[in-house]
Amino acid sequence: MSDSGDFHKIASSTEVGEGDSRPFKLDGHRIAVVRHKGKIYALEDRCPHADATLAFGMVGNGAIACPWHFAEFRLETGEVLSGPACENIQIYEVRESDGAIEVRLSETSTNAP
Ligand code: FES
Repeated sequence: MSDSGDFHKIASSTEVGEGDSRPFKLDGHRIAVVRHKGKIYALEDRCPHADATLAFGMVGNGAIACPWHFAEFRLETGEVLSGPACENIQIYEVRESDGAIEVRLSETSTNAP
C-alpha cells in the first residue's frame, strides 16, 4: 500500500463552515473544500475551462459554479453539468476526525460524460 492512499489533514473543521467553499493546497494539489447541507466535499480546485479557482464560486443544489464563466460541477462526483467547461474535475475522498478535515490524495476519477 503506497503512502498516497493515506488521509492528510488539510484544514480544521472550523475553517469550513456550513455553506463555505475554501481553497487549500496539499502536497502540490489545489483542493477546494466545501461544506454543503452538512456534508463535506473535496474537489480539484481548478476549472478545466481556463484555470479559475473553483473555491471562489457559488455553491448550491449539490453543485459548485465556476466564478469566471459559470460552468457547474456536481460536488458528489466532479461531473461537469454545464459549459463552457467540457471536462469533469477530480474529486478526493474526505473525512472529518477530531476537529480536522482530512483528504486522501489518491484521486477518485470520474469517467462520467
Ligand atoms: S474558467 Fe471556469 S468556466 Fe471558464
